Amino acid sequence: MRLQLLSLLVLPFLASASTDEQMVLPGADKEPFVPVVNSGKPSLADLLTIEPSASIFYSYARELELSQLLSNPNAQNTLLVPTNKAVIALPRKPHEDPKPLDDGVILSEAEFDTISKQNVERWVSAHIIPQSPISLTSDGEFETLLSGRNVTFTVVDGDSDAPEWRRALLDGSVHLTDMKEASNGVMYILDGTVTVD
Ligand SMILES: *[C@@H]1O[C@H](CO)[C@@H](O)[C@H](O)[C@H]1NC(C)=O
Repeated sequence: MRLQLLSLLVLPFLASASTDEQMVLPGADKEPFVPVVNSGKPSLADLLTIEPSASIFYSYARELELSQLLSNPNAQNTLLVPTNKAVIALPRKPHEDPKPLDDGVILSEAEFDTISKQNVERWVSAHIIPQSPISLTSDGEFETLLSGRNVTFTVVDGDSDAPEWRRALLDGSVHLTDMKEASNGVMYILDGTVTVD
């Protein structure tokens, strides 16, 4: 009895202590997705969280502050989400640096983390078009959140009964394999990725 009472008193304290502890850990500036509670459709963040074919993209995106956009009910974004298969097929992983280090340069762990995070941020940014919905019925070019990196959509011939996005090619070669509408935008699943150099 006394033990039970004790744990009742101590538990809330332990819970708050562990929250405080998380705040001082290095790298704890990463905000987890906070699902937006609303009565309508799920947010982009919610959709991404439950999309099993895109768990790698999600694990990269959720590390970044910009992932808050995906749960922001007042934003409207088009999210281009590569499948796990597409990410695994990349010759260079999203966190890896495009240019090899000069011989003899040794990075500290902190420097390495910073560079990796910047690379991931560039890569994820190139997969977000800061407007929604966008029309895919005619060829078009759209700016992404990565400054200077536009994506294009071209309409190819195909089954005219199919939804328009099925006939769109991203950057001339990537197919859209699925589409989901969110409360704050649209998510397309890609069989490839948006390339960044
Ligand atoms: C990207 O597209 C916009 C139009 O949507 C255009 O004004 C801009 O010049 C393009 N930028 C690049 C780098 O191609």
